[in-house]
Amino acid sequence: MKLVVAGTDTGIGKTVFAAGLACALKACYWKPVQAGLEGETDSAFAARMGAKVLPEAYRLNLPMSPHLAAAKDGVQIDADGLAVPDADPLVIETAGGVLTPLSDQRLFADLMRRLKLPVVLCARTSLGTINHSLLSLEALRARGVSVLGMAFIGEANVESEKSICDFGKVKRLGRLPWLDPLTAQSLAKAITENFDMQDFAS
Ligand SMILES: Nc1ncnc2c1ncn2[C@@H]1O[C@H](COP(=O)(O)OP(=O)(O)OP(=O)(O)O)[C@@H](O)[C@H]1O
Ligand SMILES: [Mg+2]
Repeated sequence: MKLVVAGTDTGIGKTVFAAGLACALKACYWKPVQAGLEGETDSAFAARMGAKVLPEAYRLNLPMSPHLAAAKDGVQIDADGLAVPDADPLVIETAGGVLTPLSDQRLFADLMRRLKLPVVLCARTSLGTINHSLLSLEALRARGVSVLGMAFIGEANVESEKSICDFGKVKRLGRLPWLDPLTAQSLAKAITENFDMQDFAS
């Protein structure tokens, strides 16, 4: 089983969810494109949470949209040639949102279409999430990408989650609460308490 963890935006908690999911599924974690190498990278965080981490395909210096970060580093991301590692199970984390560019020709959503893997869409629960979530679902479905369901992140917001799942005709997989402290132990506990691993088993 391989799946993609995508999000409605950058900075919404994809890495925290993906790392926790990888640990719970005993899956490898893979971030194909890391833009920004200062501080703790997503892969380093996932490793700190206890996930088995595979090396990124592209490590770009600047914290920018991957197509721009690549240009600044003088490289081009070959989205059509990007090979998914053999590892199984595998959790793949995208960068940014679903229409984040990888190159001048390709968006992350184009890569997801080519990979033909189920996508978990992460969304925050705070104000604005209905619009971002429904737009992201439309963009994925317009490309024929199969959406496994929504993983919400943040404080409970039952009405917004319901609106997204009703309008978006999408399964609610669960909600990862805001964790303080955020440790390997608190993350593992929150993932198993709030998500059913059977949902990710297909
Ligand atoms: N459930 C949570 N509990 C506590 N802190 C969280 C949680 N989810 C996210 N955070 C914090 O919020 C910040 C952004 O989260 P994260 O790095 O997972 O976002 P992202 O969507 O992966 O961003 P990017 O697009 O850069 O990959 C981080 O500092 C992270 O530790
Ligand atoms: Mg991330």
